[in-house]
Amino acid sequence: MYERLARPVLFRLGHGDAETAHETTLRWLARTAKSPMAVRALAAVSRAGGGPPRTVFGVRFPNPVGLAAGLDKDGRALAAWPALGFGFVEVGTVTAHAQPGNDRPRLFRLPDSGAVINRMGFNNAGAAALAARLDELGRLPVPLGISLGKSKITPLPEAVDDYVTSLRALRGHGDYLAVNVSSPNTPGLRTLQDAAYLRDLLAALGAELAGAKPLLVKVAPELTDEALGELLAVCVEHGVAGVIATNTTLARDGLAAGDAGRASERGGLSGRPLAARAREVVAFVTRETGGALPVIGVGGIMTADDAERMVDAGASLVQIYTGLIFRGPALVREINHRLADRPTMTAGVSVS
Ligand SMILES: Cc1cc2nc3c(=O)[nH]c(=O)nc-3n(C[C@H](O)[C@H](O)[C@H](O)COP(=O)(O)O)c2cc1C
Repeated sequence: MYERLARPVLFRLGHGDAETAHETTLRWLARTAKSPMAVRALAAVSRAGGGPPRTVFGVRFPNPVGLAAGLDKDGRALAAWPALGFGFVEVGTVTAHAQPGNDRPRLFRLPDSGAVINRMGFNNAGAAALAARLDELGRLPVPLGISLGKSKITPLPEAVDDYVTSLRALRGHGDYLAVNVSSPNTPGLRTLQDAAYLRDLLAALGAELAGAKPLLVKVAPELTDEALGELLAVCVEHGVAGVIATNTTLARDGLAAGDAGRASERGGLSGRPLAARAREVVAFVTRETGGALPVIGVGGIMTADDAERMVDAGASLVQIYTGLIFRGPALVREINHRLADRPTMTAGVSVS
């Protein structure tokens, strides 16, 4: 229904401006989320439910399909996501200071490639605003992850304090915290993946959290094996609970000829062309850590087959973003049905 009816309308909104479609959908979902009756109706229409429950890094997930960071940055439509079938939701990335993000247009669809390029630049209302919203909302029926990033106005040498400010505002909320050091759209951010910077950052965040919540690190797909190996060693050293792999890519491989015009837009590419590399990174992390660091696999999951391949590569949980734009909530249901049939994903499996 989404692909035949809703998508053609959404893709035409704002003369094809992708952010207008995003805003319209989010506004509608935010309105729906306010009414318990509407949420129940949405769950019935989307036939949400099912999927294999899992316990990963000590958190119980009703199913392993999550909403990736960046779609509902400020948690505006939180109650709607479980009704669409998601087993967990990652909000953010939020920053210590509210910020408008980059100038529009900053979100581009590449339909022939099943891809999107974005240079949103962490447009968000700030960590304190998210904390206030979560205070009001109370607990969700599924686990909540909170992604933290660096404010654009904060110089790199002061990044640690910036993350700590956000962490202090939000550590009482959510079931896990994700450290985003891999967005390509905040100048210098990816430098924080370097072992020396990451060590300081994780030491400070770890001290603030004092083991109260699992802390995860989200990585870029461009890291070399060597850099990723170093990053993982620092993660293990600092008691990081898991890795999210991967963020968007600056590469432009695997694009269809019909999308050539859009390929030169600056920003991170997500969707189908990212799938193979994201899977490779997931496999590398699994291999390198001997499976000791659970991985949330994200990048280019557009079908149930893709999700299954991500799990085969070693992912304990998966997330989707671009797949939802192109396939709608049916994708969540499809993945859950497929993974429910896998013997290794059945109830009781525990990865800690
Ligand atoms: C428009 C857009 C905004 C995003 N914003 C964030 C973000 O704020 N924080 C983050 O960690 N990842 C962000 N991402 C990356 C996604 O969470 C995900 O890692 C990436 O898109 C790959 O998954 P996909 O191919 O399923 O989209 C964003 C992606 C898109 C398309």
